[in-house]
Amino acid sequence: MTIRKTSGILWKIKGVVMMTQAIDWKSLGFEYIKTPYRFLAKWKDGQWNEGKLTEDNVLHISEASAALHYGQQCFEGLKAYGRKDGGINLFRPDENSKRLNRSAERLRMPEVPEALFMKAVKSVVQANRDFVPPYGTGATLYIRPLLIGVGDTIGVKPAPEFIFTVFCMPVGPYFKGGLTPTNFIVSDYDRAAPKGTGAAKVGGNYAASMLPGEEAHKHNFSDCIYLDPETHTKIEEVGSANFFGITKDNEFITPKSPSILPSITKYSLLYLAEHALGLKAIEGDVYVNELDHFVEAGACGTAAVISPIGAIQTKDAFHVFYSETEVGPVTKSLYENLTGIQCGDLPDPDSWIVDV
Ligand code: PLP
Ligand code: COI
Repeated sequence: MTIRKTSGILWKIKGVVMMTQAIDWKSLGFEYIKTPYRFLAKWKDGQWNEGKLTEDNVLHISEASAALHYGQQCFEGLKAYGRKDGGINLFRPDENSKRLNRSAERLRMPEVPEALFMKAVKSVVQANRDFVPPYGTGATLYIRPLLIGVGDTIGVKPAPEFIFTVFCMPVGPYFKGGLTPTNFIVSDYDRAAPKGTGAAKVGGNYAASMLPGEEAHKHNFSDCIYLDPETHTKIEEVGSANFFGITKDNEFITPKSPSILPSITKYSLLYLAEHALGLKAIEGDVYVNELDHFVEAGACGTAAVISPIGAIQTKDAFHVFYSETEVGPVTKSLYENLTGIQCGDLPDPDSWIVDV
């Protein structure tokens, strides 16, 4: 039970009672924190109920749920940003809603109407507004929508019932360095098959990336970079973010592939590279043996924001981009433009911002 005080809010983390004012926003990592409220809706007999906020963070589902056995589930990730005036922004939530439904269609799950998605996201942010990190702290409220197949089935077929839930927590940087570069390693494993589920945000892709990810961490790399599963010659993406590079000819290049996640951050950066920075913005092939074309490189995504890549270890080379310790000027400018729009300091280019 959460008890509201006149200022701040009392809640429990790992059994310890704390006040929201006591959160050291600047030292947050990317970890689960149980915030007071989440939204939950149920689909049964062909329709969604209206859903509601709940304090219960435990899902009560059948042991035979298709999400548990056959991975019939998909999810999203978006953030709420504290503005200077105390308001709260969401960044392109309509794109998350569309992508959730594309993932759902691929896995034979019902559509979540955009109105239900928006109601869930907004009400969770409003109910947990004490946990939205204040403007200027560098932290944000990470929002996780999740759609899972539940109910009693044992054969491989779509579940009879579904749960759509949205929860949230304050987070800091996903990769340790934040805007300080970290290094990545090209993996021998494939993340996705040519006509598989790489473009869908489904749990199976991430389960498959845990072993390669752990091997990368063991060797002090932030994460892996996967190559295209057909020819193993082109960069696809990072396990948890898309990839981009900047050439000395002022091009912003990011891989185009049917087996990578269509990153909302990546499409925003393609726009900003062209319209705010005057770069040539290209979605195309990025050959792993042509990394020396790039003077800067980075990983981009909701959790990753823009994480500069210091160097990439390939099979036979250690390729350093701008620097292993300093962020490059173009990457920094992209970061400032993106985060400036997200937290309301810069004008919204094209209805990207939704006020909560
Ligand atoms: N690629 C993968 C595998 C991801 O998990 C993510 C995170 O959502 C991204 C790319 C970046 O996508 P977005 O910018 O929409 O968060
Ligand atoms: C996101 O950026 O929202 C993601 O889902 C990445 C995830 C691996 C944390």
